[in-house]
Amino acid sequence: MATPIANRTAKLTIEGGPDGETETIELPLYAGTEGPDVIDIGKLTAQGFFTYDPGFVSTAACESSITFIDGDAGILLHRGYPIEQLAEQSTYLELCYLLLNGELPSAQNLDEFVKTITRHTMVHDQLRNFFNGFRADAHPMAIMCGVVGALSAFYHDSLDIDDPSHRLITAHRLIAKMPTLAAMSHKFSQGQPFMYPRNDLDYASNFLYMMFGSPCEDYEVNPVLARAMDRIFLLHADHEQNASTSTVRLAGSTGANPFACIAAGIAALWGPAHGGANEAVLNMLSEIGSFKNIDKYIAKAKDKDDPFRLMGFGHRVYKNYDPRAKVMQQTCKEVFEELGVEDDPMLKMAQRLEKIALEDEYFVEKRLYPNVDFYSGIILKAMGIPVDMFTVVFATGRTPGWIAQWNEMVSSSYKIGRPRQLYNGPSARDYVAIDQR
Ligand code: ACO
Repeated sequence: MATPIANRTAKLTIEGGPDGETETIELPLYAGTEGPDVIDIGKLTAQGFFTYDPGFVSTAACESSITFIDGDAGILLHRGYPIEQLAEQSTYLELCYLLLNGELPSAQNLDEFVKTITRHTMVHDQLRNFFNGFRADAHPMAIMCGVVGALSAFYHDSLDIDDPSHRLITAHRLIAKMPTLAAMSHKFSQGQPFMYPRNDLDYASNFLYMMFGSPCEDYEVNPVLARAMDRIFLLHADHEQNASTSTVRLAGSTGANPFACIAAGIAALWGPAHGGANEAVLNMLSEIGSFKNIDKYIAKAKDKDDPFRLMGFGHRVYKNYDPRAKVMQQTCKEVFEELGVEDDPMLKMAQRLEKIALEDEYFVEKRLYPNVDFYSGIILKAMGIPVDMFTVVFATGRTPGWIAQWNEMVSSSYKIGRPRQLYNGPSARDYVAIDQR
């Protein structure tokens, strides 16, 4: 539990009480290792007040030592390590270890961790039956919400959330099985047989193999695309208290099992204002269609009366270039070079749109920069991943973040998440019998 900063408090003065009195409430202040000081308002309820902060714009809902973002400076740190260094020098599974354990692994620790994840990639064969309950044209995110939640019905041996060994094996199972389930949701929609995971392949290669392989012929994974896939997972691994992570924490605060909590996180991620934006970016680029329409769509994005927004632009926390978007841009270049499609019209249009938006007064003034989703969809499309799988890829990458955040909460003292409200409905009134209405 945070300790208050000595000799420093916040004072809240409330004037004009019922008898004209002024009330001053002293509130403790906490300092994090990074970021702004935090005012503890937890005791306000006892004084007869709630705070009002829709969308949690100014509210820290928990303490966490996993990820730090400085949105003004465009900084993202996982356990203190900058995302750019991790993207350049680390791998997705090493980052998973770091997020879960707090420190980088030794070579032996990493080797053991990778083996453990690799040996948990298969799913119970009966889980296949769940897929048959879906229509063939089901959105893969709908399938993921269902089958990930259904995992709780398969692992009764590890659902004691107060047992650290249960939490650990659940973390391993989830990280290991997400790519398998993700690829199964794709294969199902194609009417193709599910591919079993291969233990001789690394995490990202295995995902590509299960996505694109078939039992009829060998599938060679392109190492450049595998490296890009690993980096895409890595860039999505955690992002502190975003909407889906907060959903996982809120669900977990009731003592719900982790599979159910992650399924809740997947549901929250699906929306176009969050993880669904990568899919929305591609749909938007298709809708814009050609260079000649860009100005029209920029004007639409700026028009207050038009609900259209430039997807892949803007972020609640980043008021600067999203550092993940920069790495994603580089990865995009590598993938397009490898595939020999540098003249891809979609990429050209995205680059043009970005250039215009970055110079446009509206976007500059509102500090709207490209976010992680702006380029990820373009890369995934070039790699042959269908558009409706983009958010599933995001969910797969985000799983270690969700589970690390859930584990951090469950292993500390925590309260059930229960926000209050500013009620503006009718005051108490008497029920009116139906014949008198
Ligand atoms: N295009 C046009 N205008 C925008 C955009 C955009 N993409 N994003 C924000 N604005 C404008 C808003 O209209 C608003 O203008 P106003 O002050 O005149 O009312 C202002 O910028 C602030 O926007 P808010 O919606 O209040 O900011 P908020 O922090 O609530 O929203 C969000 C952030 C949801 C990401 C928003 O920028 C957005 O909808 N972006 C497009 C969707 C997207 O790319 N989402 C992915 C986010 S990253 C992720 O989840 C991985």
